[in-house]
Amino acid sequence: MLYSGLIRKYRQYLPVAEASVITLNEGNTPLLPSIRLVEKFKLPIRLYYKLEGLNPTGSFKDRGMTYAVSKAHESGTRVVVCASTGNTSASAAAYATRGGMQAAVVIPQGKIAFGKLSQAMIHGAKVFQVKGNFDQALEVVKQVAANPKVTLVNSINPYRIEGQKTGAYEIVEALGEAPDYHFIPVGNAGNISAYWAGYQRYLEEGRCTKLPKMVGFQAAGSAPIVLGHPVEHPETVASAIRIGNPASWKMALAAEKESHGFIAAVTDAEILEAFRLVAQLDGYFCEPASAASIAGVLKAAEKGYFKKDELVVCTLTGHGLKDPDNAIKVSEPPFEVEPRAEAVLEKLNL
Ligand code: F0G
Repeated sequence: MLYSGLIRKYRQYLPVAEASVITLNEGNTPLLPSIRLVEKFKLPIRLYYKLEGLNPTGSFKDRGMTYAVSKAHESGTRVVVCASTGNTSASAAAYATRGGMQAAVVIPQGKIAFGKLSQAMIHGAKVFQVKGNFDQALEVVKQVAANPKVTLVNSINPYRIEGQKTGAYEIVEALGEAPDYHFIPVGNAGNISAYWAGYQRYLEEGRCTKLPKMVGFQAAGSAPIVLGHPVEHPETVASAIRIGNPASWKMALAAEKESHGFIAAVTDAEILEAFRLVAQLDGYFCEPASAASIAGVLKAAEKGYFKKDELVVCTLTGHGLKDPDNAIKVSEPPFEVEPRAEAVLEKLNL
């Protein structure tokens, strides 16, 4: 049967009137085994990447957005708003326009990757750049959403979390069981909470027989959950997770505790190194924030955290093409040569 998106696949979990289903056939993303990264670092584990960058707008946000925008449509509102570090705004813009609706997105000025800004713009969102950070933008949209004609589609909208649980469902279906560990970057903390809830639902329904340990990573300069207090001026190269006061803080702590996992910080240097390594060893280009989970795997492995053959899934939350500037910064620069074969051959050191 033709794949037609998450709402139709998981109809029993994501109920909505058929006339309001707004989908771009999101979900059904590949689970790719790591080969060379595991080899190079002699990791004792089986490591899989969940390639969320292969969703229609290039990030995991589409899983929750299809449902949140469909439910907004069903309820009769035609304007959706969100604050965003980039990916949520790209997704909201695409789904809104698909449903004949208007998106209004509030983003921190100069602090979102260019690819993401271009997505919100080309899909016709009304884009508001605030002189402030994500946390301030979120406060603004919460107030805007007090207007009954408007629906908030940040992850404090429970339909977003319901949709994002499908990431866990797909992993269990692909592996035939839950993994031993689920590693994931943490920003506003919706995704770690959604995955944990998704695994729990599948356990309750007998689709798996165990639960993974949830292991989350914040960037060291934006690590409120690790520090135990909000960060007023969050900073990190991983702009997607530059968040100082996560909305789903309590749910993330519950996921950490109940699953016997942990939430820790990785430095920008560690994030950029993992970002380069996954691209250069395993051939997959994710965005810097996504690589926080891989940086976390490397750090945990170094400390002897894993047992032999344990199964680890890393969510690679967004596509690298959204943020080419950082890719260019960490890579070998192009050679400037005359248009002659010898000039190329010379550099190849054959
Ligand atoms: N990775 C990427 C690529 C993201 O865009 C985000 C969040 C996260 C990880 C963290 O997920 O917030 O559920 O803990 N991006 C949001 C946005 C904040 O506005 O696009 P989270």
